[in-house]
Parts: sequence; C-alpha cells; structure tokens
Amino acid sequence: MPGEGLASCGGGGPVNVPVVNIDDFSLDPSVAHLNHGSFGAVPHRVRVAQNELRLELERNPDVFFATVMDRVAKARNEVAAFLGAEPDGLAFVSNVTEGVAVALNSVPLAPGDQILISDHTYGAVEIAVRRAAERAGAEVVMVTLPGQADGEWSGDEAADAFLGSVTPRTKVAVFDHITSNTARLLPARRLVDGFRALGVVTIVDAAHAPGMLELDLSELGADFWTGNLHKWAFGPRPSGVLAVAPAWRDRVEPLIPSFYQEAGFPKSVEFQGTRDYTAWLAAPHGLRVFDDLGLHAVQARNAELVARGRSIVAGATGLRPWRSDPELAMCVLRLPDGVAETQPRAEALSAEIYRKLGCRAGIKPWPGAGLLRLSAQVYNREQDYERLATGLRGILT
Ligand SMILES: Cc1ncc(COP(=O)(O)O)c(C=O)c1O
Repeated sequence: MPGEGLASCGGGGPVNVPVVNIDDFSLDPSVAHLNHGSFGAVPHRVRVAQNELRLELERNPDVFFATVMDRVAKARNEVAAFLGAEPDGLAFVSNVTEGVAVALNSVPLAPGDQILISDHTYGAVEIAVRRAAERAGAEVVMVTLPGQADGEWSGDEAADAFLGSVTPRTKVAVFDHITSNTARLLPARRLVDGFRALGVVTIVDAAHAPGMLELDLSELGADFWTGNLHKWAFGPRPSGVLAVAPAWRDRVEPLIPSFYQEAGFPKSVEFQGTRDYTAWLAAPHGLRVFDDLGLHAVQARNAELVARGRSIVAGATGLRPWRSDPELAMCVLRLPDGVAETQPRAEALSAEIYRKLGCRAGIKPWPGAGLLRLSAQVYNREQDYERLATGLRGILT
C-alpha cells in the first residue's frame, strides 16, 4: 500500500526479484518513466519522512536547528555504512556538482599543472574543471576514450587511455564511475590505483553509483569521490555525498565559508548557514528500501529489465544498442544520424516523444550521433519499453 513501505509483489517483471508498484512513488502512472538516471524518483515513505521533518522544523525552528547537527551526523553515519565509507571521511553535499566543486577547490593547482578529464565527462563537471584550471593557470587535457563512434570499448581500454595520458605535469584526474550520456562503467579501482602510482590526485564523479553498484569506498581509496543519493538510492532531492581520503580531510576547502570552519571536515562542508537539511535527514529512509527489497535483488532486477528493454526497443526500431555493462540499470542505443547530436535537437526530440507517446526517455547529444538512454528502476515494467518501442519508429522515420 502506498506510504506503508515498499513490498515486492509478483508479476510484470523477471521472476524472483522485487517488483514495486508505481503507486509506491508519487510518479504519474500515465507516463512511462524511462529516465530515472537523470533525477531519480522518491518513494512515498521517503517523501512522508521528509515532510514530517519539515513540519517538525516549522513547529519549533529554534529547537530544530539547535539539534540538527547531531541528527545530520547520525544520518551521515548510516549513509557511510551503506557506502563502506569512514563516517569521518564523508560529508553530505547537495549534489555531485557541488561535490566536484568542493574537491577542485581543495586541491592546490599551480600554473602549468594539468587536469585530466575525458570526452565522457558530465557538462557541469567539465565547466567546473575548466574554471579551476583557468583560475590557477593550469591546463585541461581531455582524454578521448576509445570507441567514440560505437561505444565498443572495454573498461580496461578506457583505463589505458586515461593512464596513458599522464605526463609529469598531470596533477589531478577527474573521471566518472558511471558515465552520464553513454551509461558506461569505468574501472574505478584500476584507475584510482593507477593514478595513485603515478602521483595523480583522483576526483571520482560517481553521480550514478550509490544504489546502482555495491560500494566499498574505504577500499577504493580515491582522494575524492562524490555521488548522489537522489538518483539510484531513493534519497530525496537534493542529497549527495563527498567522500575524502584521510590525507586530504584537513585540507578540504568548502565553497562557502562555514560558521564551523574550525570544526573542519565534514562539518565545515555541511553547515553553510541556514538551509534545508531535511533531505539529508530523510536520506536513510531511502536506504531502508534496500533493506526491504535487498540491494542485490534490486540491482539484478533493474539490470535485467534494462537489458530486456534495450532488446525490445532495438527489435522494434532497428536502433543499434551500444555495448553496455551487464550490472548497470542504464544503457544506450544510437539514434539515426542528424536526429539529436546537439542539445537543442536532443531536447526537441525528447519533448516530441513525451507529447506523442507519454514516455520520458533520456535523449543525449553525442558527437556525430545522438543517444537514447534507457533506465530501469523498480517501478518499471516491460510494457513501458514496449510503449516507447512501438511509437518511436514512427517518430524517427
Ligand atoms: C555523471 C554525472 N555527473 C554529475 C551529474 C550532476 O548531478 P547533480 O545535478 O545532482 O549535481 C550528473 C547528473 O545527471 C551525472 O550524470
């Protein structure tokens, strides 16, 4: 029943794995929501928990703010346990855009230093890197990952391209755990180890990783790793985290001066004046969804469903799927030439698909092509992909 927690029910999806009704979320059931990867979706019980926190705040703001720091620390501990992070090494941030900016703000750069990014780097992250480089007189080096035209690269080939681009001037490498437009998994472990051996600081954009991958951040050991809870971990928006390696923790420079500067990381990053802390406080309620359904069961079910959705769409439209990583709940298919290779064209196609088919799908610009990105989350069914597949051929021809 909506609002009562998520119970798995049979039917409509692969067997022996959790399927959750769309009315356990506030999602409009008349729409096929196939773009979970962009903004996530919040289960009722998480929204209810956040609403209760907001009411509590309004009933007695003075007491709420007097106690909020301790409560944020408790919520942070729960999230740290979920991510395999040290509680002292994790801070809440609003989102990955902020997490990356804080990391870049903390690493001293000198004129002539190089920062590595790739041609898969998320747009806002690239802008942040370019801005940091410009301020320091540093240089941005964009690594082209192999398989540009067909997505046919292995994680190892991507890691080779990244690590092979390191020069004596390379100071920082910013790379995705899971890429955005192309939905590919990068070998984070190999990259972190490889960059460390070369003396390069790592900043990992893991916007899609929490909830989609099983994580052990202490073991991974990146210098900075930032992920969103509001995409795949059922957290309210905005809720993100920044994990920082021990060697960097007392050098973290928050973007906004904090009253708690003296307390240092993580408080100095989290407490930036009066703001709405309820999303962070409610984030553990999102993690409890995994307690009910099983993290692995959710991951396996979503990965299986998105692969099935990809076959359905490819079969009906003739679109060519790009290579995908079997453990991910996202995949891409290449759109015909000229359809969506720029942002305005991609947005126009996305709007047309929504208007005509009632489907929200990820339409991503990509040089020389355009990509259709599909997501699968517990509320999706095969019928959602069938609806898109049936109508899309007419739109594309
Ligand atoms: C790889 C990647 N990085 C960063 C972001 C930015 O996330 P946010 O808008 O929550 O900061 C996204 C959003 O989709 C993303 O896909």
